[in-house]
Amino acid sequence: MSNKGFNTRAVGSGEIKDENYGNVVTPIFENATFIYPNKNPSRKEDKNTKDSYIYSRWGNPTVTALEEKYASVEGANNSLAFSSGMAAITSLMLSLDLKGKKVLSVIDLYGQTLSFFKNKFARMTGNEVDLVSTDTLNALDIITKDYGAVYLESITNPSIKVADLINIGKICKEQGITLIVDATFASPFNQNPLEIGADYVVHSGTKYLNGHSDTMSGFIGSNKDMASQFDMRKNLGGTIDSFQAYLVQRGMKTLGLRMERHNKNARDIAEFLHEHSKVLEVFYPGLEDSPYHHIAKRNLGGYGGMLSFRVKGGLDGARKLIFSLKHISPAPSLGGVESLVTLPVDTSHSSVNSQDRKIMGVTDDMVRLSVGIEDVEDLIEDISSSLSHLD
Ligand SMILES: Cc1ncc(COP(=O)(O)O)c(C=O)c1O
Repeated sequence: MSNKGFNTRAVGSGEIKDENYGNVVTPIFENATFIYPNKNPSRKEDKNTKDSYIYSRWGNPTVTALEEKYASVEGANNSLAFSSGMAAITSLMLSLDLKGKKVLSVIDLYGQTLSFFKNKFARMTGNEVDLVSTDTLNALDIITKDYGAVYLESITNPSIKVADLINIGKICKEQGITLIVDATFASPFNQNPLEIGADYVVHSGTKYLNGHSDTMSGFIGSNKDMASQFDMRKNLGGTIDSFQAYLVQRGMKTLGLRMERHNKNARDIAEFLHEHSKVLEVFYPGLEDSPYHHIAKRNLGGYGGMLSFRVKGGLDGARKLIFSLKHISPAPSLGGVESLVTLPVDTSHSSVNSQDRKIMGVTDDMVRLSVGIEDVEDLIEDISSSLSHLD
C-alpha cells in the first residue's frame, strides 16, 4: 500500500476484512479483554506486543486498524493512538530519555501544551524546558548540546506562524537532537514531518484526522522503535477506546478530499479579509505578503484551513464579530467539516499570561477561524455581514 496515492491509502490501509464474514469495513471490537493465552494457531497478534490481544488498555484490533491507517497517511513505520492529543503529547514527552538534558520548545504552543511545559514537565522529569519564539528558532543555525530535544508546532496555534522544519530538522540531525513536531494544523495531507527531519510527529486527531468534531483522539508517529511510548501509554492509560478508534478511522478516509477543500476555502477567505477595511491584519501563510509564505512554500504541500485575523474595535469588536455570525459557530475546536470561530484570549489561550501572549503575537482583537468545507460564497457572505456591524 505504501506506493499508492494518499486517498487510496486513506481509504484502504489498516482495514480489517474477515473473509468468514465478508465485511467491507473495519468492525468495532468492543472488548475490554480477550481470551489469553490464545492458543489458536491462526490468531492475530498485536503489533505492539507481538502477542495475541489481551487487554484493551494495551491494544485492541480496531485501535490497531486505526494506527495502521494513520501510519500509512503519515508515512511512519510506527504509530500509537491515544484518547486525546494531550494524552499523546504528555505520553511522548514523559517517555523520552533526555539523559538530563533540557528541552528547547517554541513558546507558540497550544495553551495546554505550554502549561504542561511550564508547570509540570520539569517537576516530573527533572529536565528543564527553555522557550523561544518560532521566529527565533527559525533563525538559528546552531542549537547547543545542552538540549536533548526540540519541540515545535509546524503551524502555530493561533498565530499561524510556520516553522522552517527542513532547516531545523537538518540542525537537529547534525547535533543528534530529537525533534518532535506537532503537525495538527497542517494534517498529514499538507505535511509529513518525518520526511523532512522530525523524529516524532504528534497530532490532535480530534481535529483534521477525524474531521467531524464528534470525538477526541491523539497520535504519535515515528520511524523509531516506540516501545517506551507504548509502555508509557499502558502506564498513563491514555489508550483510545475501540468506538472512538472506529469513528476516527472512518473520518480519516476522507482526509485528502476534505483538506483540498479546506486549503482552497481558507485561501479564498484570507484574500477576502486581506482587502477588507475593518480587518487590520490577516495571518495566513498562503498570502503572498505573509512573512511565512516562503517558509510555507518549502515546508508544506498546502497552506491549510486555519487562519487568524485582527479586527477594528479591540476585544469588543472581536466579540461582536463572532457573536453576530449566522452560520459559523463560535467554538474553540478546529479541523472539522463545519467552520468554527473563536477568540484565543477567551478560549485556547485564556490561561497564557499577557507577557507570553505578547511574544506569541496573540492579541485581544485576534479572531481564529477554522475554515470548513461549506460553499465558500456562503462563508464569505456570513463574515462580510458580521464585519459590517463593526464601527
Ligand atoms: C496544536 C494542538 N495540539 C494539541 C492539542 C491538544 O489536543 P486534544 O484537545 O485532542 O487533547 C490541540 C487542541 O486544540 C491543538 O490545537
